Order: sequence, then C-alpha cells, then structure tokens
Amino acid sequence: MSKIVSHIAVVAGDEAVCSRWVNALNDAVAKQPGDKAVSILHFLGAASQEQVLQQVASDGLLQAVILDGVTIENTSELVRTIKSMRSELDLFLAVPRDTVVPELPVELLDRDDEKASHLLRQVQTAIERRARTPFADTLRDYVFSAKDAWHTPGHSGGDSLRDSPWVADFYELMGEHIFNTDLSVSVQVLDSLLEPHSVIQESQDLAARAFGARHTFFVTNGTSTANKVIIQHLLGAGGKMILDQACHKSIHHAVILFGVEPIYLEASLKADYGFYGPVPKDRIIAAIDANPDAKLLTLTSCTYDGFYYDLEPIIAYAHERGLKVLIDEAWYAHGRFHPALRPNALESGADYVTQSTHKMLSAFSQASMIHVNDPDFDEHRFREHLNMHTSTSPQYAMIASLDVARKQMSMEGFAQLERCIDIAGRVRAAIDATGVFRVLSLADMLPAELADDNIRVDPTKLSIDVSASGYSARQLQLDLFEDFGIQVEKVTHNTLSVLVTLGTTESKVMRFISAMQKLAASAPGVGENVRRRVSSLPALSDIAMLPREAYFGPARNVPLTGAQHELNQALVGALSADQVVPYPPGIPVLVPGQVISENIARFLLDLYRSNSGIEIHGMVTQGDEPCLRIVHSDASSIALTG
Ligand SMILES: Cc1ncc(COP(=O)(O)O)c(C=O)c1O
Repeated sequence: MSKIVSHIAVVAGDEAVCSRWVNALNDAVAKQPGDKAVSILHFLGAASQEQVLQQVASDGLLQAVILDGVTIENTSELVRTIKSMRSELDLFLAVPRDTVVPELPVELLDRDDEKASHLLRQVQTAIERRARTPFADTLRDYVFSAKDAWHTPGHSGGDSLRDSPWVADFYELMGEHIFNTDLSVSVQVLDSLLEPHSVIQESQDLAARAFGARHTFFVTNGTSTANKVIIQHLLGAGGKMILDQACHKSIHHAVILFGVEPIYLEASLKADYGFYGPVPKDRIIAAIDANPDAKLLTLTSCTYDGFYYDLEPIIAYAHERGLKVLIDEAWYAHGRFHPALRPNALESGADYVTQSTHKMLSAFSQASMIHVNDPDFDEHRFREHLNMHTSTSPQYAMIASLDVARKQMSMEGFAQLERCIDIAGRVRAAIDATGVFRVLSLADMLPAELADDNIRVDPTKLSIDVSASGYSARQLQLDLFEDFGIQVEKVTHNTLSVLVTLGTTESKVMRFISAMQKLAASAPGVGENVRRRVSSLPALSDIAMLPREAYFGPARNVPLTGAQHELNQALVGALSADQVVPYPPGIPVLVPGQVISENIARFLLDLYRSNSGIEIHGMVTQGDEPCLRIVHSDASSIALTG
C-alpha cells in the first residue's frame, strides 16, 4: 500500500515562531526511518487564525493542528471553533512548562522542549491511535496465523464447502475470507461481544471518542434491535413514552414488547410527494407539557427522506422536565463528520442515539451502534438488556466492519463527505438541466406547518420529482434497473430517491446522469405535468388500550368488506389488535389498541383496491378476503384510563 500523506497545521501569532517550528518538524520527519510511520506527515504553517480555519474548512488531508499557546490570543475560542467544524482532528496546545491550562479538548506540548523529534512522536502517536482498528487488526492477524479450528462454526473456515462437488460454488462466490473470518467466542483473543474487555472494548472506546459519546456499544442486529434495547433499558417495566407516530416499526414493536404507554405525535405530511416530515416543534412541546409523567421522548432525525430537526431546544425542554431523549439516527451516522451536517443528535444533547452504521457508512448490513451520553447511565443494567437481544454467535466480520467504518470516518470522513456533497450538487444540477426531472429542495419538500422549526435536509439524499415526465416513479424505477442497470433507493408515486454515499463513484454518477438524460429525452408526457396527490393519511384516532394487551389478548379476524363489497361497518369503532402499516413508506396507520375510525378503514380499503403495489403489512388475508385482526369485544372493555 502506498504511504498516506497527512497534513498537520502549525498556527502561531508570530511568523518567525511558526516557520521555525514547521521547519524543525519537517526536518524531524525527513530524518525518521522510512518504514516507521503509518502516514507521512507534512507540517504546514498558518500565520493567522483565519488561515488555519480556512485550512480546517477545506483540507481533507488535515489530521491535526498545533496551536502556540503563547503567541495566539484566545486559544480556547479557537480550539472550540476548530472542534465545532472538525471534531476528529487532534489538537495540540504548545505551552511553557508549569502553565495552568483550562479544560480543553487538546493534548499539551512542552513549548520549552527543543527537540522537534519529541513533539513529532507525540503528534504521530495521536494520529496512529485514531487510525488503529483493534478488533479488525486482531481478526486479520488471527486469520493469517492459520490456526486449526476444532470449534464452531461448523464450516470450519470454509473447509466443509471448499472441496464439495455440490456446494464449492458457494465458497467460490463468497470468497475464502468470508469463511475464515467467521469465527466464534471460542477464539479468546478476539474478545467477547457480550462481555468485552480487550479488543472489542478498545474498538468501542475508539468509536465513542469518534462519535462524541461517553459509551458506544456495537450491535450486530441492526438499529431495529438497538432501539428495542434502549426502550427496554428505560421503560422495560412500562411507563409513558412520547414518540413520533412515523417512527420506525422497531420502536412500535418495543411499545408492544415492554407494555409501554405510547403518546403518539402526529407526523407532518407532504401529500404532494408522499413524504412524512418531522413532528412540528409546538406539538412536541405540547405533548411534553401534557404528560408530566412521561419518561422518554423518541424522535427520528434524520428521516428516510433526510429531514433533520433543530434538536437542541427540543432536547433542552425535555431534559428540563425530566425526560430522557432517544434519537433514532439510523440514517445519520455521517452527521458528525462534516460541518455542513452538524450538529447531530449527541451534539444537541441526546441521551441515547442509535445509528445504522451500515446505511450511510461502510459497515456490513446489520452493523449498528448505540451511543450513550445519559448522565444517569447504569452500564451494568444496560449490558444485561443488550445481552438479552444479542446472539451468542455474533458475526465477526460485522464487528470488524464497525471498527473499520469508524476508522474511515475518523481519518477521512470529512474529505469523503466533501466529495459526496459535491457529487450531490452536480447530480442535482444535471437532473434539473433535463427540464423534465427536478431534484426537490427543502422548500419543496417541507410541510408548511414546519416552516419556523429550523428543519434542514441532508444534502446527500436526493428526492427527484418525476411528475412532469409522464412516467410513474415505479415505471422509471423499473426502466432504470432493466435498461441501465441502476437500482435506486426508493420511490413514492411521483418521486425517486437516490443516496449519495461514500461508495458513490464518478462512473456511477456519469451513468446515472446519462440514464436520466436519455429517459428525459424520451419522456412521454413532457410539459403535461401529471402531478397527482396521494390520498392523505387519515387522522390518528384514539388509543383505547395498551398496545401490548391488544396485541397479545384475545382477537378475531374481521373482513374489510361486507356482503355487497362495501366497507364492513363492524370494523368501525373496534380496536385493532395489530400494527397495520402501508409499505412503503412503512408508517403505521393503526397500532394495537387503536380505535379503527371509519376514515382509517376506508383508507385501507381504498389502498387495498388501488393495486398501487403498496404492501399493507399487518392486514390478514383469509382465503381471498382481506381482514383486520380486532380485539375481542370483552377484552376491549378493559380500556386504558387517563
Ligand atoms: C428510521 C429507522 N430506524 C431504524 C431502522 C432499522 O435499522 P436497521 O435496518 O439497521 O435494523 C430503519 C430502517 O430502515 C429506519 O429507517
């Protein structure tokens, strides 16, 4: 592998001091034996605070900054500004011996030490500490030490498949390392995910530092599990949770599993495009005020479509009233690593944050992280809850991929995200230039009721309005796949969504733009503007029973239609026993214990008949007949009070 170049900025208020240090440090680098360091360090002088901030804002190779504590004024302010832009950078403050330094996220350098090689070693060590992947390194070393396996998994490094006439093709497809990295807790040098104390713990500690958490836990069953673990930890024995109605189904599942009393916040909706938006701030505040006994507030930021909240005032309000705050950042693990995307949830004060490291970063599918900053955190109890949901045979490649994804963001996240944001801008311009397709702006996407809430949108998620083309979004999705080999992330009735991730290459960009240009040129309905509205979600109806009791209690299937194919009125006023979720987008219109209103029943019937391709999860079919499972009327008399 070729040597990586790392830049280190040296900033002093005195040009002579600055260039003396830069020259001495670069000389010390030149005198080092060639094979010593992971990366080649180049020290660069910055003669003013403005110059160093310019470098922090634009230099993707920058890994550290040395600040002269004597000739720079107001170093504390400068340190805070640099950290607010690039949290990952190692900062060093050079001060005379015996200086009392205020609490700052810096390492101290001895300004009186004449030996540049000492300072160089300190800087090099800090960068190399961040560049380590303790678990992934140990896994690789173990694989190459070629130990004989007399333990699980039974494929034994792939030996059970390799020479088989029937299944060797699978071994070849997957490659040898998918098998020989698939190990088990029997291999003690690889630590234990359930009780980490060596390399997994070190990797988690590095992740906590990179993501700005007090504790980070690796999860190998996705954010779906991470959300349940946190809700079990905080509300395992029941209690009130205020939550976005449009949150991920794993949170609704936790409500059922742990007997939580949910206070649903009605999500905003942009019906023109079929997007759910965040919950208006006033609605969140009102729910907090109306439920002084609630223990937890749970929100999603950013959403699937990229909306993210101005979280700081909301979290501060919740904390003042004694609530803990969980933010589902399944789609926002990259948020900390570029100033244009900050602040993220932890930086805004969240107690618990879940992230699907696999969605936007480079980890394998199912690899997620839980970050904790709760000042009242009970680690022992949390570990018990986490272990209840963790397999005793976790996938080791997945753990290694979390370690590597963290390293990547820590070492090159800023540069990679600069590239992603630039690509997103170019794709946006090229799509808009077709005159047929159009990338939606925040103003286009945002429901009106959120206009004053400082909502922003992640620039790496592009929602493309196709309604002027005459194609349906579903048709375009198929054409892109079949004619151009391009798979998009999702569609609504008139939008296509694509994600620009760290894995988006220039050649993918070229092919996507070219495909969209060709599709625009042959669009049947150019100029016709066939924008349609989706029928709005019906209003939330009352929750009359705890979701857990409704789900597990006695229930029966009731057909959606009567004898004349009309809406079956027997459903109206009954309580749903299931969560009923049109997918996409995966937001429930009914949760267990919710009163089935006429509007909701009619909405489901229309959707069922529309043949739109939208799945309705939770709808039961009995023979050919669509039914809803409803709570048995005796049971539903045990209504929720209060
Ligand atoms: C908002 C949100 N939270 C959680 C999840 C679950 O994440 P995972 O796929 O990592 O289990 C998803 C999945 O799409 C999601 O959209």
